Amino acid sequence: MTQPTPIRRDRLRPRLLDLFSCAGGAAVGYARAGFAVDGCDIAHRQNYPFPYHHGEALTYLAALISSGDIHRYSFVHAFPPCQHGCALTVGTNASKGWGRTHVDLVAPARELLDATGLPYVIEQPNGRAKIRKDLTLCGEMFGLGVIRHRNFELGGWTTRQPAHAPHRGRVRGYRHGRFYDGPYVAAYGNGGGKPSIPELQAAMGIRWTDVREELTEAIPPAYTKFIGRAYLAAVAPTGEVAA
Ligand SMILES: C[S@@+](CC[C@H](N)C(=O)[O-])C[C@H]1O[C@@H](n2cnc3c(N)ncnc32)[C@H](O)[C@@H]1O
Repeated sequence: MTQPTPIRRDRLRPRLLDLFSCAGGAAVGYARAGFAVDGCDIAHRQNYPFPYHHGEALTYLAALISSGDIHRYSFVHAFPPCQHGCALTVGTNASKGWGRTHVDLVAPARELLDATGLPYVIEQPNGRAKIRKDLTLCGEMFGLGVIRHRNFELGGWTTRQPAHAPHRGRVRGYRHGRFYDGPYVAAYGNGGGKPSIPELQAAMGIRWTDVREELTEAIPPAYTKFIGRAYLAAVAPTGEVAA
């Protein structure tokens, strides 16, 4: 039987490494679940609300593993670039220039995450990215103003898949020249009935950045608050997996 990973706590909060962190949609959810969070992003992300390392995420992770500093952490979340396989690169979107070849960091990220020996989450949008769909979350599960389906591969731990809540209507915006109204806003792109920044902030539950790109890259904190709580509930404070 594999031994459960002991929880490493920082002032009583287990520490989580948030790779490809952007402005911290995922990070804030984990903090609300009870983690102390450190980020890492290749871009300058001044709106990230926690300590973060500016640099290439997999290089940073490899260095943390080599030095042993990875043992400061209890859990890792990663959103490796996925443009290679996500839905925006297929169908009519490909003709808009989003279909060009991108680096796919999912497999190398998984290899390094396995090498940490820590429990982890790999997140990807709905589409063709090559991850296991151990968990799929939707904004309606949390009463949000976005649908934003996201898939999560869980490394070294599991949790229950919640029931998918029926959508209350359509995503507001133009499709093929026709305007559709609905209770959800589109958290991607610009124009064509896309939401204002305040609408996007309200729909996602993100107040600490007003940068459209950061909002449209983020996942709602409600998702990772759910994941973080599920993980902490599955692991007793002693580091033993709860029965
Ligand atoms: C989709 S966003 C992550 C969103 C974040 N999880 C959230 O909820 O706010 C992906 C981020 O990865 C960063 N990124 C892309 N390639 C990277 C790399 N090789 N190393 C570190 N960060 C990278 C981008 O700058 C971007 O901020």
